[in-house]
Amino acid sequence: MKKQNSGIIRNCMAALIVVSLTACSSEEPPEEVATDATYNTELNMQEIMALVLEPASDILWDSGGWVIDASGYEELYPTTDDGWAYVRAQAAIVVESGNMLALPGRAMDNDAWMIYSEGLSQAGMLAMQAAATQNKEDFFQAGAQLYSVCTACHQAYNPEILDRFREGSAD
Ligand code: HEC
Repeated sequence: MKKQNSGIIRNCMAALIVVSLTACSSEEPPEEVATDATYNTELNMQEIMALVLEPASDILWDSGGWVIDASGYEELYPTTDDGWAYVRAQAAIVVESGNMLALPGRAMDNDAWMIYSEGLSQAGMLAMQAAATQNKEDFFQAGAQLYSVCTACHQAYNPEILDRFREGSAD
């Protein structure tokens, strides 16, 4: 009896799959919605960096690793589920910042700039995954990878920023 039932369910599922495949194949291909899209790129690069990307990244860097000070050894990693959820959300901002930098009207070229922008998103994804699994070692590595992407792009496009950026992140 049980066997028969599962056979029926299997057949039904097969039928459903056939139906949905036919439904899909008869549809028109999706329209290219991005072609005529306009993006609001009013925020300049300096504003995106200072107002969006840097605050989110700073929280990631301040939430990984350890410090040793007068009061002793202190771990910086989040200690609660909420804490990890918060840093995961900051990592999501980093992921999307990669897209913001790559927007037409913002991207400085279609070459290295795009690679660094994508690198930003990739490092952000790693940080998100590490935060989701509360994996400290992976989270730390993601932070290091993120830092190297920031530095590489500044080096290539605005070496002057590099010095200021280093000073800023040293305190
Ligand atoms: C795709 C290239 C690129 C990446 C990646 C990038 N930056 Fe920038 N950043 C720039 C450019 C270009 C400027 C100079 C903007 C200007 O002043 O016109 C800048 C400037 C800055 C500034 C100075 C802003 C100010 O107030 O003058 C900060 C801070 C900064 N970036 C932080 C970061 C951090 C943190 C990261 C990584 C998490 C990062 N950037 C990743 C291109 C990049």
